[in-house]
Amino acid sequence: MTEYIVTGGRTLDGDVVDIEIRDGTIRRVVPAGDGDPAAFPADRRHDADGRLVTPPLIEPHVHLDATGTAGDPTWNESGTLAEGIEVWAAYKEGITVDDIVDRATRTVEWYAAHGVTRIRTHADTTEPSLTTVEALLELRDRVSDIVDLQVVAFPQDGIFTDPDHEDLLHEAVRMGVDVIGAIPHNEHTREDGVESVRAVCDLAERHDRPLDLHIDETDDPNSRFTEVLASEALKRGIGDRTTASHTTAMHSYNNAYADKLISLLAESGVSVVTNPPDNSVLQGSYDDYPRRRGHTRIDELRAADVTVGLGHDSVLDPWYHYGQADPLDAAFVLLHYAHMAGRDDVADLWEMLTEANAAVVGASGYGLREDTEGSLVVYDSPDAFNALRTRAPRTLVLRAGDEVARTEPARTTVQRDDGPSAVDFHR
Ligand code: FE2
Repeated sequence: MTEYIVTGGRTLDGDVVDIEIRDGTIRRVVPAGDGDPAAFPADRRHDADGRLVTPPLIEPHVHLDATGTAGDPTWNESGTLAEGIEVWAAYKEGITVDDIVDRATRTVEWYAAHGVTRIRTHADTTEPSLTTVEALLELRDRVSDIVDLQVVAFPQDGIFTDPDHEDLLHEAVRMGVDVIGAIPHNEHTREDGVESVRAVCDLAERHDRPLDLHIDETDDPNSRFTEVLASEALKRGIGDRTTASHTTAMHSYNNAYADKLISLLAESGVSVVTNPPDNSVLQGSYDDYPRRRGHTRIDELRAADVTVGLGHDSVLDPWYHYGQADPLDAAFVLLHYAHMAGRDDVADLWEMLTEANAAVVGASGYGLREDTEGSLVVYDSPDAFNALRTRAPRTLVLRAGDEVARTEPARTTVQRDDGPSAVDFHR
């Protein structure tokens, strides 16, 4: 029916509003009490009762071909990106479409339950049968009832590290991926890395696709491919559809170089995506003490008006063994290790989770305003701060006016001498 009314929802700005959705679109956002619940069927009404309501969440960076494989065939005990790639290489030797689709479907449903309606997933194109790409393109159709899935052609092991990898990348593009990727810091040489950036820019222009590169995901301060990407994007005028994912080496650049690079990124319009869960455990793995944190320069990038999205990256895979596909978990990790635990940081974290991620994936009609898509999330939480504090349950998730997920908050009691006491972590 694609119609719904949510009454008494508290927005990220703190306003308490009624939201009316008709024909899959938000038609009215009015002060609480001014909506017309009686005009909606009883099963198309939800009283948020002052709880937080936001636009839908977005996952701008995940690897759904590898999700759910943590520990198979081995755990990544060194915690390095390199061992993760080795473990994944061993796993993917016997990979099948059904195996990928089954694991990925479970993770997509977890995302949906957490309020995510758009996901950008990478598909490893260095797997010689391209089973990974085939599976995630099939998944794109299979889960279209709950999420919009974008598939990135991602040459995990490099484009020029094997004679077949460039052809496999081109074949993945022909198969119908949505976005084109690369991993210049994983090429054998600096020159190959630069060439890989230019090659995928050419490919993206030829096929009119966005770009999303794993780039400078290392603690090596001499890894400087983001400057190449930003420069190429600027010259070609494609910055608004180009994303630099990770850029963790920026943590280790000297300030003079970082300042120059951030200015270039801002001028180019290239966005950045930080992936706190993975980079909190992968970066600094080669360090003695003091051990670097190795995340990108979020505060300086944002101050320069660079769009910085916030992704999870891995859910139960060789690069990050944990996770439950919740963007709020990624934000919770970030607020700790990026020194974003101040009160003013709350709005910045939510901006990254919503508007910035929407810009990264090119979401149209996004927002919680009249004439935007009829999609929203209600949290069992009174406000934006507490929703982060508790990673609050998503009591209701709507997509284009239809219910995608619903969570009944748990009930907990503590036994006191004078009887049971109800505990509420969220209010
Ligand atoms: Fe990644």
